[in-house]
Amino acid sequence: MRILMVCLGNICRSPLAEGILKQKIHEQGLNWTVDSAGTGFWHAGELPDRRSILVARQHGIDITDQRARQFQPADFDRFDHILVMDVHNFQDVTRLAAADTQREKVELILNFLHPGDDLSVPDPYYDDNGFEEVFQMLDAACDRFIGAATRE
Ligand code: 4NP
Repeated sequence: MRILMVCLGNICRSPLAEGILKQKIHEQGLNWTVDSAGTGFWHAGELPDRRSILVARQHGIDITDQRARQFQPADFDRFDHILVMDVHNFQDVTRLAAADTQREKVELILNFLHPGDDLSVPDPYYDDNGFEEVFQMLDAACDRFIGAATRE
């Protein structure tokens, strides 16, 4: 199973989602591939935001090996599930899909927690206090994702 986490900058939310899911699959002995990307190119090559690094570290997860990159259409073939953080990411990624089989891989990550509600993970970039809340949402959503995916 190959999972790609996607947000706008690939420095705040999706690096956290990648780190959280990697930790969980490691703990559960699942041999999955997890990566992340941003729909935008502005932060390509950068480390995750220092506030994401900090909140991950507070939960025992090191995400400093990650570097931002932009989502590319080839990712549709490289991954089985493309989990996006918000409705804008959903639009931006599905717009690049060349076929329904690609479009069907794209899912809002919070729909694993609140099915059908199409909720967005809030962008914490302009809110220093938002990172812990984002971490908790992603942690819960990743648990549900693993539950759903291991029953597939
Ligand atoms: P992310 O957060 O999409 O969770 O990585 C953001 C990072 C950077 C910007 C916006 C959101 N930005 O405008 O540079």
